[in-house]
Amino acid sequence: MPSKSGRHFLQIPGPTNVPGRVLRALSQPTIDHRGPEFAKLAREVLTGAQGIFMTKSPVVIYPASGTGAWEASLVNTLSPGDKILMFETGHFATLWRDMAARLGLHVDFIVGDWRHGVDPAVVYARLADDRAHHIKAIGVVHNETSTGVVSRIADIRRQIDAARHPALFLVDTISSLGSIEYRHDDWGVDVSIGCSQKGLMLPPGLGFNAISDKAVAASKSARLPRAYWDWEPMLRDNKAGFFPFTPSTNLLYGLREAIAMLMDEGLERVFARHERFGQATRAAVKAWGLDIVCENPAEYSGVLTAVMMPEGHDADAFRQLVLDRFDMSLGTGLGKLKGRIFRIGHLGDFNDLMLAGTLGGVEMGLTLAGVPHKSGGILAALESLSSPWLSPVP
Ligand SMILES: Cc1ncc(COP(=O)(O)O)c(C=O)c1O
Repeated sequence: MPSKSGRHFLQIPGPTNVPGRVLRALSQPTIDHRGPEFAKLAREVLTGAQGIFMTKSPVVIYPASGTGAWEASLVNTLSPGDKILMFETGHFATLWRDMAARLGLHVDFIVGDWRHGVDPAVVYARLADDRAHHIKAIGVVHNETSTGVVSRIADIRRQIDAARHPALFLVDTISSLGSIEYRHDDWGVDVSIGCSQKGLMLPPGLGFNAISDKAVAASKSARLPRAYWDWEPMLRDNKAGFFPFTPSTNLLYGLREAIAMLMDEGLERVFARHERFGQATRAAVKAWGLDIVCENPAEYSGVLTAVMMPEGHDADAFRQLVLDRFDMSLGTGLGKLKGRIFRIGHLGDFNDLMLAGTLGGVEMGLTLAGVPHKSGGILAALESLSSPWLSPVP
């Protein structure tokens, strides 16, 4: 196989492109994780992560993928047989439900069509019905990475409050953190679950829990078995800048750099940048005459766009052609959407010209694969990108 010239386009919705600044930070020599230099690094990233989650509460960082951080959120807050309300927004919400069931929780899983986010009115209805407060937690995926549908966390919080229900609110912000507006404190979330390889622009390997006081209090009496994931030794040792086990030292160097980059740009601008990529991508898809998975404009994602393949065309064969011809990776359809959709990731270390290149690869791929579509998608995206951009922050 001849080597390819130019850059690979990694346009899956995570892991995302790792910026040079972060790659260089990762390559520093590994240090003693029980020494003073590490304690300084740990304090910096633990405080910095609070800024990204927009919280004053502690954030713990596991050497783990997002799935580990999911497990941590459940085993620290709940007891065997506890009832948790979850919603079938897509593949990841379904996997999280499976995990909760395997851990011995009783899951009330609200069926969904994978084209809509969580309906806040349904949350209200379920909670208002639960007068005896059997529901101990509500688990919602903010940005469903398998579909490009965003659930409205602030609206859901309002409905929990309107129902005057004490359930804990657990939110998967794995593919929204650092890309789509997310406010742990303002939105009254009890545990926010994140990971490194999406909006934080790092390689995979870090899992996060941002933990409210209410969640810490719940962890004192929660009885699901836990050892590695236990918040208590983490929170205790983190106070002095240490971990109860060996942390991912080099990923933490990268995290320090990534947080600095996001804060330099300003989170509001980061969110607006992603929103704009979403708009331009949807403009292209519309011009091609194709459908996107998300049906509710109030739930469009700035992180990824999931595109429906016309009947009779295999989305994975199309993706393979794009990879072979243009050296670009697009996201596959997951679960029941396998072969039926492809996902365009437009998050992380990403700019207008990268989006233009990405959409160029998709449009050329559609033509080469013989997928029926109209031309003009790129032009529509470029027009959308030429619309006024957020003025620089003084
Ligand atoms: C929304 C969401 N939740 C959970 C996960 C699982 O995370 P991981 O694969 O890092 O374990 C993913 C992975 O892409 C995701 O997108």
